[in-house]
Amino acid sequence: MSGIKALILSGGKGTRLYPLTFTSAKQLLPIANKPVLFRVIETVRDAGITDVGIVVGDTAPEVMAAVGDGSRWGVRVTYIRQEAPLGLAHAVKISRDYLGQTPFVMFLGDNVIQGGIRHLVRMFLESEYDAQIVLKEVPDPQHYGVAELENGRIVRLVEKPREPRSNLALVGIYLFRPPIFEAVEAIRPSWRGELEITDAIQYLVEKGYKVYPYIHTGWWIDTGKPIDLLAANSLVLEELEPRVEGYVDRDSALEGKVVIERGAEIINSRIRGPAIIGEHTRIINSYIGPFTSIYHHCEIINSEIEHSIVLEHCRIEDIPRIADSLIGRRVVITHSPMKPRAYKFTLGDYSQVGIL
Ligand code: G1P
Repeated sequence: MSGIKALILSGGKGTRLYPLTFTSAKQLLPIANKPVLFRVIETVRDAGITDVGIVVGDTAPEVMAAVGDGSRWGVRVTYIRQEAPLGLAHAVKISRDYLGQTPFVMFLGDNVIQGGIRHLVRMFLESEYDAQIVLKEVPDPQHYGVAELENGRIVRLVEKPREPRSNLALVGIYLFRPPIFEAVEAIRPSWRGELEITDAIQYLVEKGYKVYPYIHTGWWIDTGKPIDLLAANSLVLEELEPRVEGYVDRDSALEGKVVIERGAEIINSRIRGPAIIGEHTRIINSYIGPFTSIYHHCEIINSEIEHSIVLEHCRIEDIPRIADSLIGRRVVITHSPMKPRAYKFTLGDYSQVGIL
């Protein structure tokens, strides 16, 4: 579709996901073994959008190396460099030349949404709205931008209000036409020093522009915190089609929705889905329980693990039970018989360990 572009935001420091994001962009953390950012690109591609701008910050080299020119998804990616994380409205401001007069969908690169945005995009293009904002009813609106509606229109937006006047959160997906550029020029930084997109949309409302909601009813997760990452992982795993592209020996059992990716080997083990085992990962004499994603090139030996995400190149050996865990790249967890008998750690800054 040529009448609309996408602007995906993939900057930010990801402080709430330390230490996993010390060395890596939060948008590249995998959900069900696929980086969140790739899922976002697929979502806009599936809505028929081929021109994709990606706003990048400190982690630009890593994001660019992972995504490339977008041809893998059949889209054309243009990178827009944001020198500092000065806010979502600032990201729009610096993307003005790229976006021109074309309507666009802005999508936060760490959000996962059920069901895609195809319908929404079509609806917006057929409308005369200046902006359409995706909202969702949530139990804890104070953590998000919050919108108030009147007669089907948005009349007020507040960023993380202490006393929310509705339970409708801004999901992190926004459709805009060019008046948004006037708005991002007009607003001033918030208390957190950022140009807030919420304030820019409030400006549109005040100036009488047409700002309408789109209420999303499926699930949506902002993967900003470890607990959210595990939740998103569980939800996406439940939607996977089971498939076995690796090797499963006769002494192993797969139960429920299980994906075994290419080159993986399952030896004398039980995998209870929903779960995914990544490329060239070996599971030996082990139990992998529900809601677990093991990424590529890992070895899980004589161990049990469930409701967890394990990133690439990890080795876990002789550990009776791991649950509710997020394990970074190239982590080794083993049972050590060497004296003195003790927990022996080499943990990065901000690591969190729960001992029995
Ligand atoms: C941002 C927006 C907020 C929105 C949220 C959705 O918050 O400012 O309005 O509800 O994304 O994920 P941030 O993640 O920057 O705190």
